[in-house]
Amino acid sequence: MDQMIIRGGKPLHGKIHISGAKNATLPLLTACLLTDEALVLSNVPQLADIATMGNLLGQHGAAIALQAGEGGFGHTMTLHAKTITSTTAPYDLVRQMRASILVLGPLLARCREAKVSLPGGCAIGTRPVDLHIAALEKMGAVITIEDGYIHAAAPQGLKGAEITFPMVTVTGTENILMAATLAKGETILNNAAREPEVGDLAQCLVKMGAEIEGIGTDCLRIQGKDRLHGANHTVIADRIEAGTFAMAAAITNGDLELIGARMDGLKSVFDLLAKAGVVAEKTADGIRVRRATEKLIGVDVMTEPFPGFPTDLQAQMMALMAVADGAAMITETIFENRFMHVPELARMGANITVHGSSAMIRGVKKLKGAPVMATDLRASVSLVLAGLAAEGETTLSRLYHLDRGYERLEEKLSACGADIRRVKKVG
Ligand code: UD1
Repeated sequence: MDQMIIRGGKPLHGKIHISGAKNATLPLLTACLLTDEALVLSNVPQLADIATMGNLLGQHGAAIALQAGEGGFGHTMTLHAKTITSTTAPYDLVRQMRASILVLGPLLARCREAKVSLPGGCAIGTRPVDLHIAALEKMGAVITIEDGYIHAAAPQGLKGAEITFPMVTVTGTENILMAATLAKGETILNNAAREPEVGDLAQCLVKMGAEIEGIGTDCLRIQGKDRLHGANHTVIADRIEAGTFAMAAAITNGDLELIGARMDGLKSVFDLLAKAGVVAEKTADGIRVRRATEKLIGVDVMTEPFPGFPTDLQAQMMALMAVADGAAMITETIFENRFMHVPELARMGANITVHGSSAMIRGVKKLKGAPVMATDLRASVSLVLAGLAAEGETTLSRLYHLDRGYERLEEKLSACGADIRRVKKVG
């Protein structure tokens, strides 16, 4: 198994190209199931999660071709689901990635039936899919859960309905949005997720012939169509990757330009970073990030659905606060049990106390390198950030978490001066 070895203390300087967004690409890939024509997606990142989704779509009958982008970044993926050969999403593929649930809406809408394995528990909480199921039932689907599978059928096709999500769900909104594009009549989604990745999916669906009003708001109005057609679409830049590198600049007291990053998806993050003593400026090509003050300042953070502070940057913010001046309170409101990075950061000398869904971080002068273990995607990268700032050597194991969501992380960081390398673990 691979390990990452980081020798901290080097300020990062230079430019980092931000990849296409993983969380936008995953639903966009499943949109290919809505049409018998080809969907061409560009700026697709090369990540383990994208490969897993490709395997799943392949077994539903989609033909997939991949063309490498310039410098090995920004691939173009052509997906053609001319006929759906299987409406079953098997456990072995679904268990690898929760976002596999995104095939449920499109399969049910196009084939009037689908059998999708329940994603099951996951490291950052129970994360049920009850809201996806309840919304599809409202659209006329008959759904039963048997043998760990969601069996969904709508023999007469799905019907438009007014759905109010009791809590904001990103993939739930995406699943129902896709299903509604092929339903009979109008669907209204209230309390829809406003994440930019939902907007990107909606824009692509419009190119495919869908009629959607309210894109970017919490109320989506969809007029169902008999069929959708092929389209070309470019995936938006990954705001979570950009936010992560912004924090890498801040924690190392460096100066990075994040090429392709956009301010609009990161306002809550940069507003908070400004209070923590980090300045972000728009440039012609992206965003430049560096410290405005000699020391970082402790600030309180609460995760919220977009446009609030994203839960996917909570662990990285905690690494930053671990070396800030003063105390910081981080409250996680989206997922229970999303503090698994805390004991690992503590191994590196961080002073953190957890009380329920809040963590109190008292900044220390220096973190110290240590052997640490990744527990989930964003937790792992917070340990990389901590390692970049720490004195001495940090060894991170279980890198498969990182590879799910960060494209060539060590290459991007070392090009900006980080001492980071991947090695094969011996013994
Ligand atoms: C997506 C993102 C993930 C991000 C999360 C929150 C993708 C592929 N993943 O995950 O990176 O951390 O949004 O921004 O885009 N819930 C229910 N029942 C449901 C659905 C959700 O109770 O049927 C709960 C969840 O347990 C959680 C909250 O709602 O507490 C939000 O989850 P949700 O927005 O659905 O997260 P994902 O879409 O899985």
